[in-house]
Amino acid sequence: MASFLQDNQDRFLTELVDWLRIPSVSADPKFHNDILKAAEYLKARLEEVGLENVELCQTAGNPIVYGEKIVDPSLPTVLVYGHYDVQPADPLELWTSGPFEPVIKDEKIYARGACDDKGQVYMHVKAFEVMMQHGGLPCNVKVMVEGEEEIGSNNLGIFVRENKEKLKADVILISDTGMIANDTPSIEVGLRGLSYHEVEVTGPNRDLHSGLYGGAVANPINVLCKMIASLHDENNHITIPGFYDKVDVLSDADRAELNRVPHSDEEFKQSIGLPATYGEEGYTTVERIGIRPTLDVNGIWGGYTGEGAKTVIASKAFAKISMRLVPHQTSEEITALFQQHFASIAPAGVTVQVRPHHGGEPVVTPTDSVAYQAAAKAIETTYGKKPVPTRGGGSIPIVAMFKSELGIDTVLLGFGLDSDAIHSPNEHFGVFNFLKGIETIPLFYQNYAQDFNK
Ligand code: BES
Ligand code: MN
Ligand code: MN
Repeated sequence: MASFLQDNQDRFLTELVDWLRIPSVSADPKFHNDILKAAEYLKARLEEVGLENVELCQTAGNPIVYGEKIVDPSLPTVLVYGHYDVQPADPLELWTSGPFEPVIKDEKIYARGACDDKGQVYMHVKAFEVMMQHGGLPCNVKVMVEGEEEIGSNNLGIFVRENKEKLKADVILISDTGMIANDTPSIEVGLRGLSYHEVEVTGPNRDLHSGLYGGAVANPINVLCKMIASLHDENNHITIPGFYDKVDVLSDADRAELNRVPHSDEEFKQSIGLPATYGEEGYTTVERIGIRPTLDVNGIWGGYTGEGAKTVIASKAFAKISMRLVPHQTSEEITALFQQHFASIAPAGVTVQVRPHHGGEPVVTPTDSVAYQAAAKAIETTYGKKPVPTRGGGSIPIVAMFKSELGIDTVLLGFGLDSDAIHSPNEHFGVFNFLKGIETIPLFYQNYAQDFNK
């Protein structure tokens, strides 16, 4: 197997690079054709490595690529999930090479989607090839790769509810997360939920001269800033009434355990050019990211932002505000609390609209399962070190739904690094990580099939 991987690694990389060239951005309708092309490309590659019943499942939005290989119905079934859609590439001027003109430089593949998530999905495609060439799959697999993860997975949610029989499996396997470092392997065992909103503050019925009217009317931008500022108190606690009511409070022992993960605040600050960390009083960086909910403004606009100056009071101000949720908050409850609170703090003189976007539920995945142990053992073999379980800060909304709708737990077998700059300019994925993934995944299947009935 090792020599097969070595002999074929250039081809594996070339195939991935060809896929990365297709700008499958889901947020912007102008890329719709490329979305379809990226789905078709994956379908062809899955067929090539020997998966069966490979199809594009149509949805109200982007198609889902599905394939399977049922080797023996009495064996366990692994359902692999990933996404072929990518985040928008802007700001383009900050990329050192084109986001959709992949280059391999310093042992890293640079392109939008290199790590999140086409590169990680492609490890699975090539792991299937490796297994097929070396005695076949040790258990059944189903593969489902969607094209709307970065915009909330709404249509996948519907697809999952409508295809429970088709998606029947014993475990979900996902490579769409990261590790602490290449010399500190880890497995994420938690994902945060999400509640995302756009808010609109309206003042006067038209933009006004700021001299003729200024001081006598509510300025929507001033008001919006004040409202946003009031959402955290001086200890960086979120001030929305009831926001923390359901938050799972960890025991001192569990917190101590969590804080044993290798983490250096010095390196953390240095890696993103910060003089100091910042966050909720009373919690460490690891806790702030892993087990505490947050509220962040993702964008804010209004008024005049062009060259020079314009003395104006804008009629409207806008912001995109998201909250990351932890067990046992629900996006529905938090969305209602946010809507209520945000409307209630609007002063007289403006009107406020809150428009919820997508949501997602937090999850914690088990570590005492056969599947988790199979993944941990596989990583220990290929990295030479036992992986540490970590609570990640990101969100993959479908994971909670796999549990609630299908009753299936997930293993997050991710090979990215925080430094891969996912969602940022110059996203990349280490060639080392890509190849380690292809090497580790077949061992997961072996371990899982072997230990399943024990
Ligand atoms: N793969 C990421 C999530 C992620 C990355 C989790 C690294 C853990 C470690 C995923 O593609 C993503 O970006 N999710 C979005 C949520 C979605 C609803 C837009 C996120 O976390 O913002
Ligand atoms: Mn992803
Ligand atoms: Mn993403």
